[in-house]
Amino acid sequence: MKTATIILDKDYTIGIVDPRLFGSFLEHLGRAIYGGIYEPGHPLADEEGFRTDVLELIKKIQVPVVRYPGGNFVSGFRWEDSIGPKPLRPHRLDLAWKTTETNEFGLHEFLHWCRKAGTSPMYSVNLGTRGIEDARNIIEYSNHPGGTYWSDLRIKNGEKEPFSIKLWCLGNEMDASWQTGQKTAYEYGKLARESAKAMKIIDPSIELVACGSTGPLIETFGDWELTMLDQCYDYVDYVSLHRYYENPSGDTADFLANSCDMDEFIQNVSCLCDSVKGKKHSKKTLNLSFDEWNVWYHTKNQDEKIQTQHRWEKSLPLLQDVYTFEDALMVGSMLITLLRHADRVKIACMAQLVNVIAPIMTENNGSAWAQTIYYPYAHVSQFGRGTVLRAIVNSPVYDSKNFCSVPYIDAVGTLDESGTVTIFCINKDLNEDFKLSLDLRAFPGLVMTDHILLSHPDKAAVNTKENPFNVIPCSVNNDTQENGQYQVLLPKLSWNVLRFSPERRD
Ligand code: AHR
Repeated sequence: MKTATIILDKDYTIGIVDPRLFGSFLEHLGRAIYGGIYEPGHPLADEEGFRTDVLELIKKIQVPVVRYPGGNFVSGFRWEDSIGPKPLRPHRLDLAWKTTETNEFGLHEFLHWCRKAGTSPMYSVNLGTRGIEDARNIIEYSNHPGGTYWSDLRIKNGEKEPFSIKLWCLGNEMDASWQTGQKTAYEYGKLARESAKAMKIIDPSIELVACGSTGPLIETFGDWELTMLDQCYDYVDYVSLHRYYENPSGDTADFLANSCDMDEFIQNVSCLCDSVKGKKHSKKTLNLSFDEWNVWYHTKNQDEKIQTQHRWEKSLPLLQDVYTFEDALMVGSMLITLLRHADRVKIACMAQLVNVIAPIMTENNGSAWAQTIYYPYAHVSQFGRGTVLRAIVNSPVYDSKNFCSVPYIDAVGTLDESGTVTIFCINKDLNEDFKLSLDLRAFPGLVMTDHILLSHPDKAAVNTKENPFNVIPCSVNNDTQENGQYQVLLPKLSWNVLRFSPERRD
């Protein structure tokens, strides 16, 4: 059996976990909203039409922040269409996804839903077809107490107290050719700056995310960050990163190695931000908002067909990727990577939350269930709080098609307020189990309280409506301890959560 070691020490830390690292994303896309979180008439819908079965699944993963309403959708969206009496709200063509938006679910509904889901909003403004004027208006509507046209309209629409939305995105993927209202880096940087100025005059307590590149492979990557930040560095608080991974050729080893790409992407964007900081002699360090990340590829061909055959129809079943066990491992690896960068990445949103490339699926008028990727997300959100520990991992490595020296064992540790140490770790080896030795000398009073394991003999295994518990975690008990060294068995291709809590002396 192969072996690896992990050493953890409480003095070797990376940073404090910002709870917003475990955020998610809901776009007016496909069945995310209509038939996802909102379905009046569903047997389990509440008085506002929110599906309570979906709310329960969301509450279990403790989602701290939800980005909304897009995504590509926001670049053609008029936020005023989504307020006021529902029968008067206009139906509009959504150019991003070639469907029709009814606006039945809008700003007020989203904020009510956030309260029920125990989450907070991250609201995107449209800097594609719109600009400064609309950005200032929605801040005034949402966050100003009253006595002006927009704030009084909010009160008239039933909300006396301001919504006080704290976190805002300045547009979405404005570098991308598919974006309605695509901009050059200079145009966007200037627009982001002027919108930010206006928004912060109305509410100086808000935080703003500027659009970074759509991904590291887009040809303007790097130049985009430098040019747009040159314009808006002093006015924004975060830069966004987006990244999706795929495995169309079925090369699992290479697919799982993509965490190296994510790691490099985060490092490169940090360097780009710091380069602008240096040029400007600024005292401010910009943090990162990785506000779209996931696996996305299973439905791409099918989506094109649906969009062609059902152009301009409502709530089409788009991006309904059914995730495999292998995808859950990749998601786990991305979560480990995010935790390893907790000093710099303060916000991250798994894209998305329900039905659209999502951990939760629903059937119209039917059940809701958790996909494979739900579980690593739930574990890290539930247990990955507190301080991130810099795990020293000694693991054999492998070379894949696109990556060299990829450690088979990918791991990170956290220390929470109760003194519990949690180690999240993946065995990426397709063929062999690993014996992992854990050196926890720096934590003498801790005892192992749980080993949660997610594994499956079939890497293509999925959860479906008919078989929703095919891939689920379980607790195992095959670990041993001697002189502060734990020996843990990590089965081939597995996600593991190892928990060590202070010994109870009662
Ligand atoms: O999450 C799906 C889409 O991916 C989003 O709308 C867009 O921002 C990205 O390209």
